Amino acid sequence: PASMTGRHLLSFLEYSSEEINQLLHSAKTYKEHPELKQGVLSGKSLGMIFENASTRTRVSFEVGLTQMGGHALFLSPRDLQIGRGEPVRDTAQVLSRYLDAIMIRTNSHELVEEFAHYATVPVINALTDAYHPCQALADLLTIQEQKGILKGLKLAYFGDGNNVAHSLLIAGAKMGMHVVLATPSEHKADQEIVALAKEIALTTEAIIEETTDAHSAAKDADVVYTDVWASMGFETEQSLREQSLAAYQVNEELLSEAKEDYIFLHCLPAHRGEEVTAEVIDGSHSVVYDQAENRLHAQQAILAALIG
Ligand code: CP
Ligand code: NVA
Repeated sequence: PASMTGRHLLSFLEYSSEEINQLLHSAKTYKEHPELKQGVLSGKSLGMIFENASTRTRVSFEVGLTQMGGHALFLSPRDLQIGRGEPVRDTAQVLSRYLDAIMIRTNSHELVEEFAHYATVPVINALTDAYHPCQALADLLTIQEQKGILKGLKLAYFGDGNNVAHSLLIAGAKMGMHVVLATPSEHKADQEIVALAKEIALTTEAIIEETTDAHSAAKDADVVYTDVWASMGFETEQSLREQSLAAYQVNEELLSEAKEDYIFLHCLPAHRGEEVTAEVIDGSHSVVYDQAENRLHAQQAILAALIG
């Protein structure tokens, strides 16, 4: 496959199944042999623009690059001139003259696309309203680690058809998985993204499905996934969403449909008693902390591929 050096990572739509496999392989290697990362990104700098809060993404990128010999800078739009109206095109071109890569978390996927258009170094999407690709790579790594394979596994996602759901659709489709989204009709995934995933599925033997019936989605699932009901930017809809999403809570009753050896994933932060019960997320099938740890290994693989 073509080298990944110098490329942006906005959604994984830009990457082939083979390239995603390469990233997974590299992440696994770094996890098993941490000595191999030393000095790999010596002298490299990553700018991290966070318009929204973050625990995992910020810390795993910053520590991840430090472990590889590089340096990450946390850039708040409150401090950058972009927060006072400096154009994206100027910010992107100027920062590209200092940095080896730029990571951005913002609500607007269009803004990240615009930034990537003008930047002359790789731009990494660290979560937008549309996608969360770094999370999806860590999710694939976690599933592969637990199940040994990805192809053919049934992943059932419950709740809001959001950024995380979209990235699972694309990543799952690329890897030949059976991805089912169970969402209420008023919180379905973006239908254009569902169509893109279905198109990819034609060449990978993946199965992409949507349903409003949580129980049918859970049936024989290998991987059960949920995320917050009100994503960043939608906080004012919290109480409305609690009503329409209540039937999609991941709890023991729903999980009686899943395979006996199912694993439970959640990108975190989690809300016990809302999208998932404490019994499930703190139970023996849950691998959420391995999943969170895998953000570090997955992103080290991404950084090495794009700027190594
Ligand atoms: N899962 C995730 O991206 O977490 P943070 O919002 O804490 O970065
Ligand atoms: N869907 C959530 C994920 C947080 C990591 C959000 O966008 O807030």
